[in-house]
Amino acid sequence: MSSSARPPVDFVAYLKTRRSIPAIQLAAPAPEGGTLLDMLTIAARVPDHGKLHPWRFILYRGAGAAAAGERLAALYAGRHPEAKAGHLDVERGRFTRAPLVVGVVSCVNPVHPKIPVWEQELSAGAVCLNLLHAASAFGFAGQWVSEWMCYDDEAARLLGAAAGERFAGFVHIGTPTQPPVERDRPDVPALITEYA
Ligand SMILES: Cc1cc2nc3c(=O)[nH]c(=O)nc-3n(C[C@H](O)[C@H](O)[C@H](O)COP(=O)(O)O)c2cc1C
Repeated sequence: MSSSARPPVDFVAYLKTRRSIPAIQLAAPAPEGGTLLDMLTIAARVPDHGKLHPWRFILYRGAGAAAAGERLAALYAGRHPEAKAGHLDVERGRFTRAPLVVGVVSCVNPVHPKIPVWEQELSAGAVCLNLLHAASAFGFAGQWVSEWMCYDDEAARLLGAAAGERFAGFVHIGTPTQPPVERDRPDVPALITEYA
C-alpha cells in the first residue's frame, strides 16, 4: 500500500476506541439540514450485494418524536390495561430521550432471484453501524437500540414501517453529556482460529 493510500492514524485510533453513548445521555444539539443529510449519505455507503439498497430512513424528532411516543404508549396501554402510569411514561418517552432518532428500516426483496434476504438484512445492520460512525465523525454520538418495537409488527406499522418492512434499529443521536466509559471487550485472539 502506498503511503497516500494509508488511512490516517487518528482513524485507526477512533476505531479502536469507538463507543456508543446511551440514549439518555444524548442532548441537543442534534445534526440537522446538510449535516444530517451528509451523515445519512455516509450511513448509506455500505456493502450492498446487488445494489438493492434494501433499507431506508425514518426521522423522529420534535413533535414527530413526541407523537411516536404517544402512539406507542397507547398501543401498550391497549394491550396492558393494568400498566402503571410510570410504565406508560417509559413508552411515551422512547423517542424523546435523544434529540434525534433515526429508524433504519430493512425493506428486503423476499423473492430476489440472486440475493438472499439474510444478505439484505446484513446490509441494513451495516447501515446502522455506519450511521454511528458518521455521527462520531461530525462530533455527535449515538446508540443503536432495538427494544420491543423492532420485533412487533403493530408497533412497526405505527412507527412508519410499511407491510413487509421491519426496523433494523433505532439509532439515537445527539451531543454526549457524559464521556464514554470503557466496557469489557471480548478476548479477540481467543475468537480466532486458523482453518487448516
Ligand atoms: C441490533 C442491536 C440492538 C441493540 N438494542 C439495544 C437496546 O435495545 N437497548 C440497549 O441498551 N442496547 C442495545 N444495543 C447495544 C448498544 O447499541 C451498544 O452496543 C451498547 O450500548 C454497547 O456500546 P458500544 O457500542 O460502545 O460497545 C443493541 C445493539 C445491537 C447491535
